[in-house]
Amino acid sequence: MFSKDFLWGGATAANQIEGAYNEGGKGLSTADILPGKERFNYLFDPQGMMDTKFDFYPSHKAIDHYHHYKEDIALMAEMGFKCYRLSISWPRIYPNGYDEIPNEEGLQYYDDLFDECLKNGIQPLVTLSHFEMPLALTKEYNGWIDKKCIEYFEKYVRTVFERYQNKVKYWLTFNEVNSVTKLTFHSGGTIVPKGENVDQYGYQILHNQAVASSLAVKACHEIIPDAKVGCMVQYSPIYPYSCHPDDVFAAMELERDRETFALELFVKGEYPYYSKRLFNKLDVNLDVTKEELDILKQYPVDFISFSYYMSLAWAREGFIGEITKGNQMSGIKNPNLESTEWGWQIDPKGLRIALNKLYDTYRKPLFIVENGIGVKEELKHDTVEDDYRIDYLKQHLLQVEEAIEDGIPVMGYTMWAPMDIVSNSTGEMSKRYGLIYVDVDDKGNGTFKRYKKKSFNWYKSVIKSNGGNLKI
Ligand code: BG6
Repeated sequence: MFSKDFLWGGATAANQIEGAYNEGGKGLSTADILPGKERFNYLFDPQGMMDTKFDFYPSHKAIDHYHHYKEDIALMAEMGFKCYRLSISWPRIYPNGYDEIPNEEGLQYYDDLFDECLKNGIQPLVTLSHFEMPLALTKEYNGWIDKKCIEYFEKYVRTVFERYQNKVKYWLTFNEVNSVTKLTFHSGGTIVPKGENVDQYGYQILHNQAVASSLAVKACHEIIPDAKVGCMVQYSPIYPYSCHPDDVFAAMELERDRETFALELFVKGEYPYYSKRLFNKLDVNLDVTKEELDILKQYPVDFISFSYYMSLAWAREGFIGEITKGNQMSGIKNPNLESTEWGWQIDPKGLRIALNKLYDTYRKPLFIVENGIGVKEELKHDTVEDDYRIDYLKQHLLQVEEAIEDGIPVMGYTMWAPMDIVSNSTGEMSKRYGLIYVDVDDKGNGTFKRYKKKSFNWYKSVIKSNGGNLKI
């Protein structure tokens, strides 16, 4: 049974939904200068990144939520949302990151947005940094590799905590923070010079963001004592491809290194026991101070949030098998599972496994803040008959219910995404996740009109019955 205060809703991110990239005093963001998958590619080509001109930048227009937010929130309210997870665009508040004073127009925009949510009975759940930062911080400091960013981030979060203290009670620090160890530019605004050790950069950035997250927890608890702050990780349980002990260990190691390492810092406030061996293997030497370690220990997060789209399989070195794509990482194709058009494996039970594993290890309340299916879709008679999405969400929610029965405190579920928005990994509009179809194509052409898909009314009835109709 879902508790009566279960937070049902949906999730988005500023650079994928807002558009208006140069309006309202906003500065350029790291998400504004590369189209989508290019942000993953530019690990080693600093000059190329700054110089290349692309013919289209999805985040510049996105779905123009900046000008449509009232209409969008009204649609969420119609579905009965209790919670809307969104991110604040840092460069809307501090256009360069290092500015003396914040941009009032940006602050006002989110004030209005939060008012609109609250007026409709929707609690905002706010991500402070979702795959973007002021581009000026990349140009000036090469992003999060420089500890100066900790200071600027703290200033930014204190500004928004002060401003929205009466409106926002749930906060997340960095979206899918574990992705930064590999995707240094995409998730940390940092370019790794050619020939240098990516792991060295990746783990140093993770450390810097962990310290910044702890300082955010500290600030939030001081400024908004009744608020809760969570971390956010991308979590795909990694299954051993076979029961050979070498495969079991390899799967465990991959999950640890790529996914749960970050949780040790954010939740337990300490480096995991295996980090010394891992760092030796990767030739990583971190710049870590005693004071920073104390900060990590003193201010862990209040809850864990995570995205769940799939599970992956893994095996010992030398294994030859089909590799499949996933969210930020690939794995071995699991023959027991179906996949989406983008190769993401569909595994509802994996969500129950994820909830159990996370709760078993960390004993913190859990919040599923992303889960959904991207599909190529066409509007027919002003709607989309998306029975596959209804089935995907239903099967996953049934597993959430099972996990609750297992005894796990699950705070809520915000599906990705209430409306079609720009895909993070591909920059496409045609990878559609929404319960609402938005008439915009991959090049940003269209009427921007919103249409309810079949799943809209289905999700509305799920929320209305507090999950009661899932079994019907
Ligand atoms: C998560 C991100 O990785 O998955 C979102 O937090 C993203 O930003 C979502 O959009 C779905 O991924 P994609 O690449 O299909 O948009």
